[in-house]
Amino acid sequence: MKIVILSRNMSLYSTQRLIQAGRNRNHYMMVLDHMRCDLLIEKGRPVIYHDDQRVHNVSAYIPRIGSSATIHGEAVVRHIEAMNVYSTLSADGLIHARNKFRAYQILAAQNILVPKTILSSSSYTADTMLHLLGEPPYIIKLLNSTHGAGVLKAETYEMAMAMIEAFSRAKQRLMLQEYVEESAGEDLRVFIVDQKIVACMKRKAQSGDFRSNLHRGGTSELVNLTREESQVALRATRVLGLHVAGVDLLRSRRGPMVLEVNASPGLEGIEGTSRVDIAGKVIEMVEKYANKTKTWKRKQLS
Ligand SMILES: Nc1ncnc2c1ncn2[C@@H]1O[C@H](COP(=O)(O)OP(=O)(O)O)[C@@H](O)[C@H]1O
Ligand SMILES: [Mg+2]
Repeated sequence: MKIVILSRNMSLYSTQRLIQAGRNRNHYMMVLDHMRCDLLIEKGRPVIYHDDQRVHNVSAYIPRIGSSATIHGEAVVRHIEAMNVYSTLSADGLIHARNKFRAYQILAAQNILVPKTILSSSSYTADTMLHLLGEPPYIIKLLNSTHGAGVLKAETYEMAMAMIEAFSRAKQRLMLQEYVEESAGEDLRVFIVDQKIVACMKRKAQSGDFRSNLHRGGTSELVNLTREESQVALRATRVLGLHVAGVDLLRSRRGPMVLEVNASPGLEGIEGTSRVDIAGKVIEMVEKYANKTKTWKRKQLS
């Protein structure tokens, strides 16, 4: 099969692993940069050009869309859907998961536990909103933060007010969130491919930080999930319409809480920790669904 990975950078670990896994199974693997894709609708038919070359005869796409490329990335994935070609990521899945607040709205509507969170379009009501959240500390989070870089903890009410004001001057959209203290700088990353948990790990923040991201110096280890944690992670993935997902859970006093669901989760940390060939599992899923797009669509809707 000809399988295209949409990736901005061929040398990334995840991209390299997917190329390798596909080649091991005798597929023709190609990497295209979604930001260099032009989308054409011609006589009612969708066509993709990469640079100035028309892209032909692709059996399946594996989009790896980073947060800085969401808008055009979504358009490319929607084009692939219009062409009726299998993609491991749907445009709706990408859009649902990428904006953390939108993801919470969808999850909460299905009774999936998420942290108490407030989205506000201005700083005028910050005082009331902080009081609604409860006692400090508070978490202040950019809507499309990644790698923990847009996540701050305000220890006091005054610090929170100052941060909200600064962000709102800088025209950054943010949300306010309760701090889940009992998670103690730890979270679970559950990796799901085709409605199955293929690997999971516990991540722990380095001392002095509360963010467990490996990019922030966090460490990881193997973990056993409870049945409830597994079910929550699988349901969250399903309601957001994702075939491949990295679900982050907090072990809260109220039960497993979904912190975020990653639609293009990195493979390096989780493969390194779990020793599972996750790239291989993604290719196996592609083999199962490619050329059977209708089956996949039916399944996704159910
Ligand atoms: N409300 C919270 N309570 C406790 N810890 C949190 C909370 N929000 C985030 N964290 C910690 O910060 C990390 C990064 O937050 P997250 O929302 O996943 O942003 P990012 O997308 O940048 O990784 C999480 O993995 C978790 O360890
Ligand atoms: Mg995260």
